[in-house]
Parts: sequence; C-alpha cells; structure tokens
Amino acid sequence: MNYAQAEKMLKSCGQEHVLAYWKKLSKKEQAALLEQIATIEPKSVRQCQAALGVGVENGCRKESENQDGKAPKVAELKGAALKKAIAAGEKELKAGRVAALLVAGGQGSRLGYDGPKGCYSIGPITGAPLFYFHARKILARSIRYGAAIPFYVMTSEANNEATVKCFEENEYFGLNPDDVFFFTQGMWPGMTKDGKIILDQPGHVFMSPDGHGGLLAALKKSGALADMKKRGIKSVFFFQVDNPLVEIADPAFIGYHVLEKSEYSLKLCAKRDPFEKVGMPMQFGNIFRMVEYTEMTKEQCLRKKNGKLYFLYGSPAIHVFDRAFLDREASKAMPLHLAFKKIPTVVNGKVVKPTEPNGYKFEKFIFDILPNAKRAAFLAFEQKDEFSPVKNAEGSDSPETCKADMQAKWARWFAELGVTVPTTMPLEIDPVYAIDAADLKSLGLWLAAD
Ligand code: UD1
Repeated sequence: MNYAQAEKMLKSCGQEHVLAYWKKLSKKEQAALLEQIATIEPKSVRQCQAALGVGVENGCRKESENQDGKAPKVAELKGAALKKAIAAGEKELKAGRVAALLVAGGQGSRLGYDGPKGCYSIGPITGAPLFYFHARKILARSIRYGAAIPFYVMTSEANNEATVKCFEENEYFGLNPDDVFFFTQGMWPGMTKDGKIILDQPGHVFMSPDGHGGLLAALKKSGALADMKKRGIKSVFFFQVDNPLVEIADPAFIGYHVLEKSEYSLKLCAKRDPFEKVGMPMQFGNIFRMVEYTEMTKEQCLRKKNGKLYFLYGSPAIHVFDRAFLDREASKAMPLHLAFKKIPTVVNGKVVKPTEPNGYKFEKFIFDILPNAKRAAFLAFEQKDEFSPVKNAEGSDSPETCKADMQAKWARWFAELGVTVPTTMPLEIDPVYAIDAADLKSLGLWLAAD
C-alpha cells in the first residue's frame, strides 16, 4: 500500500487524521504505518463505528435484553445412551474426521504471566507447560484410534513466535508437525467514542487482538478451514488454553454431537457458585444465545424458592462445531463487544497516558455464532473431571487449585484400581501413558506385578 492508497482508504471511512503526522515521521516509521493501515479494512472500521453508534456500553448487552431467557434442555448421558454416544464418537475418531482447535491468542494478564499462557508450567511434578497436556492428550487419542487428529492452534501477533518456539523446543510434544497448524488472529484499531481511530504514537495506530471470535476470519484467511476440508474433517473440538483438565476429542461428546445432527454443541457443568464467572446459554423462543456472566441480571444469578439456581449450568468453553457450519459462518460479520479502556493517545504530537478510560477496544466472541446454528446440543459433565482453569495468580482458578484438581482426578483413577494415593503424595500422569482410568487399569496388572 502506498500513501495515496492509504489516504483514499482512510478518507472513505472518515479516518484521515491517522496520517496527521506523516511529514514528521522517518522513512522507516512511514513504511511501518502504511503496513499497519493496510491491515485495517474500511468495512471493519464502519462496523466499529456502528457498534459505538448504538450506544452499547462496556461490551454488554443491556440486562433487560436477557430478561426472557430460559435455561436450555441439557442432556446427561448414562447407560445405553452413553454407550451409543461413545460408539458414534469412536467411529468418527477412527475415520479421522475429528480435529482439535485451541484458542491461545489471549494474554495471561490476570495470571501475571508474560509469555503465551500455554507455556505456563502446570505439571505438578515435571513442571510441564499447559501445551504439553493438550498436545499429549491429542497424541494419546490419535494412538488409541489409529488416526491423526489435526491440531489447529490460534495465536496472536504478540505470542505467535513464542508459541511456535515452545512447540519446536519440545519437539511438538510427540505430535507429527505436519498435523499441527498455527494461525494468527486479527487485530482491530481502538477508537474514541466518536468513532475515530486512536494513534498511540504519531506514526502508530493503537491495535488490540480481535477476541477469540476472530477465530473464524483467521481460520479462513490462514487456509486452516481449507486444510480441514481437504483432510475430510467433520467435527471440530474447540477448547481454551487455560484448562488442562479438558478431555480433548472425548468420544462421548463427539458422538452425541453427531447423533444429534448438531452444528454447535456445548459441554456444560453445574456452576460452583451462583456468581461464578462463566457464560450461560439461554433459550429465547427457538434460538439459543450465550449470555456472559457480566450480562446476567442479579435475579438470574439467584436461587429459586426451592433452592435451585435459575441457571444451573455454565459454559467452560468446550464446544464441538460442525466443520461446514464454521465454513458458513466464516464469511459473516460477527457482533462486536466493546471494552472502555485507558488507551495512550497523541495530542498535538505528544503521547498522553490517560488516567481515565478514553477509548474502546473491540472483541468478537466465538459463542456469538450459537444463534445461527440450525441445531444446537447441550451436554452436562462433572466439573471436577474436566474443568479447572488457570485464570488467577492466587485463590480460586489459580495454579494451586488447578494442580490439586489434576492430582485429585488421577488419584480417582488409581482408586478405581484399588490403590489409595495419599493426598500429600505428588502425582502426575503423562496422557500418552494413560488417558483415562481404563487405560490405567490395563496397566494395573503390570503395576501390581512389578
Ligand atoms: C471465558 C468465556 C466464558 C467461559 C470461561 C470459561 C469469554 C468472553 N468468556 O472467560 O464464557 O465461561 O472462559 O473458562 O470468552 N483468547 C484468544 N484471543 C483473544 C482473547 C482470548 O485466543 O483475543 C483465548 C484465550 O487465550 C483463552 C480463551 O480465549 O484460551 C478465553 O479467554 P479469557 O480471557 O481467559 O476468557 P474468560 O474471561 O476467562
């Protein structure tokens, strides 16, 4: 892109001020600014302006919009229904029709960790990173079912290089590098409340990652969606980087999704407390929509007279998507969520650090495509077995609680073999060694004989 093209594009969406300091910039700064402007699409700028225009505050829908939401029907698989779902899922896995999709573009700011969150050490004994547990689970499943599970990893500009390096240094944790596909999410410019792009340096636009909903555009742009199609993938298992308990490509969930002919399936677990910070799916007439914890009314978080919660189930962000559904959605614009933040800004050529929020960041959330699914399915699971995220440095959802939950889960497997592991004993199992209690059981005779 040259200066004239940049000027024309910016004028088309009322942003020509972005070039206000052009003449004062060095050649290098000018080139860098043009490169940045080339990544900004006028239609995205207009979408941000429209979002600001409708007066949505702090990224939340108005609470009153969620007033009529009802809890959706959530399946609990047991007995014959569970067996049927597992058989259907195993068929998909053996046929190589399942992919794993990880969103790892976020920053571990709440955790106070600088690098990619997936590199954060969580193995109770080995100190292995979060990525290790994810990759080894995928490897274990693909060994069990004799077919590759291609692994698509979304990074951001800020952490892509370090993420790839972590995989390379660890020899892809045993995975075949040909089955691991990294792709980077997009960035959106920040804006003032009047819809003007913010410069945080005279020659630099303030940009921030476009949220995990940026996944769809990035999957398409990077060729990852085309790669899935070429490989004959039908079901895409989606998960977040911070939860090492997640049962990636779990056959029961995949099978339930396929049997239900669902386009978007969600695993849900009972909330640990009424105000737990998780999203909740709600039903509005015939459609479903995810309502974030920040968007719930206080009444909706409370209990009914019988002591039960109005909305018992929360979303740990474990989903299965139909690949063709992702394909269909990837070309559509997604709703924007706004966050009002303190953003450094240039005033009369000088950088000013505001003390109060002065501008908006824009994010897309993947679950906003839920209402577009022709069919959706909801499956309950035990939180203690599959959800213990690392979000905070201390307290709830911290490395300490997560490690304790990982060890408690492994100890439950041993208990099934009749072996009691003292709670004080450190415990860690490589997923390739045993991915579930049954795996451990098959090694049990060897353990006993040794
Ligand atoms: C998220 C969900 C919430 C869910 C909870 C479960 C949102 C808005 N909310 O909350 O519904 O109940 O997890 O743990 O997602 N990410 C990117 N790119 C980005 C931003 C995030 O890839 O631009 C990734 C992160 O790396 C992470 C995941 O998305 O894997 C979730 O991000 P996070 O900020 O941790 O979400 P929460 O607010 O904890």
